[in-house]
Amino acid sequence: MVISKKFVYSTAFLGVPKNSNFAILEEELPPIQEGEFLLETKYISIDLFVRYKPLSKLNIGDTIWALQIAKVIESKSSNYPVGRYIRGYYPCSTYNISDGTSYSNIPTSLIDEKYPLHKYLAVFGYSFATAYYGLTQHCQPKENEVIVITSAAGGVGHLVGQIGKILGCKVIGLTSKSEKCLWLKGLGFDHVLNYVTDDVSKELAKLAPKGIDCFFDNVGGELSYKIMENMRKLGRIAICGSTSCHNSDFVPKLPSIHPMISTKLLSITGFSTPMELEKLEHSTKTAMKWFEDGKLRTRETIIDGFENYPAALTSVYNGENLGKTIIKI
Ligand SMILES: NC(=O)c1ccc[n+]([C@@H]2O[C@H](COP(=O)([O-])OP(=O)(O)OC[C@H]3O[C@@H](n4cnc5c(N)ncnc54)[C@H](OP(=O)(O)O)[C@@H]3O)[C@@H](O)[C@H]2O)c1
Repeated sequence: MVISKKFVYSTAFLGVPKNSNFAILEEELPPIQEGEFLLETKYISIDLFVRYKPLSKLNIGDTIWALQIAKVIESKSSNYPVGRYIRGYYPCSTYNISDGTSYSNIPTSLIDEKYPLHKYLAVFGYSFATAYYGLTQHCQPKENEVIVITSAAGGVGHLVGQIGKILGCKVIGLTSKSEKCLWLKGLGFDHVLNYVTDDVSKELAKLAPKGIDCFFDNVGGELSYKIMENMRKLGRIAICGSTSCHNSDFVPKLPSIHPMISTKLLSITGFSTPMELEKLEHSTKTAMKWFEDGKLRTRETIIDGFENYPAALTSVYNGENLGKTIIKI
C-alpha cells in the first residue's frame, strides 16, 4: 500500500503565493495495472506559471501539477523498468502512477543519469531550451550585438546571457541584488545592472550608446519599458515571461510603445518553449557539449522537502534564487 501526499490549490491567490494557498492531501494509491508503473518523486521544478492565472487556469481544489524527476520503483511496463529515472509532467505528489501517457505537451521520457538528476530540470531540460530557442530564433543575435536580459540571474536568464557570450555578443544583465550581480559578472556577463539601485535608463544609454540590438524579456512592466526605450533601430525583442504582472490585478499605466516600435522598426515576439522532441534533443545536446567544454556554468537553488513547495514559489517571487529553483524530496 502506497500513501502519497499531493498539493492542491486551496485558497485564491492574493499577491505573492503563500503557504495558505496550498493544502497537502494524502491518498492511498491503487495497485498498478498491466502497462503501468509506480513513480517515487525525487525533484520538482518550481515554475511560475502555476501562479499566473492566464496560464495555470487553476480552480480551488485542483491538483497542482509540476515538471519532475521521478524513480520507477514498481513496474508492469517493459518501457519503464524498475530503477530507471524519468522526467515528466505529473501531479505535484510524492508518488504517482503512470502508463507513460503525456498529460500535457511535455512527454514522459527516460533520462540517462549521466549528470546529477536535478540538472535535467534545468540546463539539460526546458530551461535551456527556452533560453536557446528564445534567443537564437526570436532575437537572432549577430556577433558584437548588444543583448539585454531581465531576471538575468534566474533559471532561464543566466543561460541566455552565457549563450549570448558564446555567440560573441555583448551581454548586459539586470537583476535585483548585489550577490546576483557578482555571480553574473563571474559567469562572463559584460555588465550587470541592479535595477533596484541603478538608474537603468541612464546606465543603458552609457553601456549601449548605439542602442540595444536584442532584448530577452522575462518580466514586463515599467522595467521593460525603460529597456525598450533604449532599443536600436531594427532591434528584436523576445518576450519570454511577464513576472512583474503575475501577482497584481493592477495593470501598470505605461506610455504607448507604438511610437518606438514604428519609428525604430522593432520586432516583438512572444514565444513558448518548443515542445517537439527533436528540438529538445538538439538543445540538450548543445547544452551538454558547451557544459563539458566549460563554456556553460550553471547553478541551481535546491530546496529540501516536499512540504516546502509553496515556500519555494514565494522565494522565487522574492528574488531569492540563483539559477533554477528545484525542490528535492
Ligand atoms: N515562454 C516560455 O515558454 C517560458 C518558459 C519558462 C519560463 N518562462 C517565464 O520566464 C520567466 C523566468 O522564468 P524562470 O523560471 O527562469 O524564473 P526565474 O528567473 O528563476 O525567477 C524569477 C525571477 O523574477 C524576478 N522577479 C520576481 N518578481 C519580480 C517583479 N515583480 N518584477 C521584476 N522581476 C521580478 C526575480 O529576479 P530578480 O532578483 O532578478 O528580480 C526572480 O528571481 C517567468 O516569467 C516564467 O514564467 C516562460
